[in-house]
Amino acid sequence: MCDRHSSIRNKMRAISNKPFVEVCISPDKYHLYKEYNKIVVVIDVLRATSAICTAFDYGVDKIIPVAAIEEALDYKAKGFIVAAERNGEVVPGFDRGNSPFGFMDEELAGQTVVLTTTNGTKTIKIASDAGRIVIGSLLNLDVLCKWLIEQQEDVLLLCSGWQDKLNLEDTICAGAIAEQLLDSLKFHSVEDSTIMAKYLYQSAKENYLGFLKASSHRRRLQKLNLNADIKYCLTPNQSQSIPIMEGDALVRLKVPEVVDPLKG
Ligand code: MLT
Repeated sequence: MCDRHSSIRNKMRAISNKPFVEVCISPDKYHLYKEYNKIVVVIDVLRATSAICTAFDYGVDKIIPVAAIEEALDYKAKGFIVAAERNGEVVPGFDRGNSPFGFMDEELAGQTVVLTTTNGTKTIKIASDAGRIVIGSLLNLDVLCKWLIEQQEDVLLLCSGWQDKLNLEDTICAGAIAEQLLDSLKFHSVEDSTIMAKYLYQSAKENYLGFLKASSHRRRLQKLNLNADIKYCLTPNQSQSIPIMEGDALVRLKVPEVVDPLKG
């Protein structure tokens, strides 16, 4: 903690009571950013956190994220609805995977769903020591930023990446959130990862699909004919849901200005 950054941070904390917003580019770097973990925003644009926002838009009551397939199987044996994805595909033996379209299902309204994905649910588990964990995606960008600005607490934007490597889409989404929070003039930032994410967002924001043309997970999903999923997940502000961890499950945060899709 006696690096150059920590002394800058301590000075900034001493002269101003503004909280920090910082970006962590992959779950394996989370331990380096824990001092910002009052609120951790877990981001997995393609597709876990986009699917989670969509599930709450369509009235799912709770989502229990689990890291391992074995755990998901235990829940299935107990009669839970379980969605499981590995490497972009539905895991054999499960009814649905990680496509947002799989959660646009009226039969899921009011239900609890158990979810395991390659990176997204693992990242949620890694951040389990955070003050609060919320779910971020391009789908809920503006509603989430508005809520984060109101909280006035340190925010860590934790990208799920791909198997502990950086990915472009999560970093771009983190940059979009960081920019809105910094533009509010109510947050500080000192980490280079945050500057990088903002630059990446600024380069991509006019054409996410084009910018991500050669990205690894876009190629992976394209091979699986999941173009519709990619387009949907890269279209900002289609969701009013802010999923938040309560105990072992995600629920839809109740904020007065967020309209419940079922009640209107
Ligand atoms: C993940 O959690 O790794 C992703 O959401 C993978 C996917 O696109 O299904």
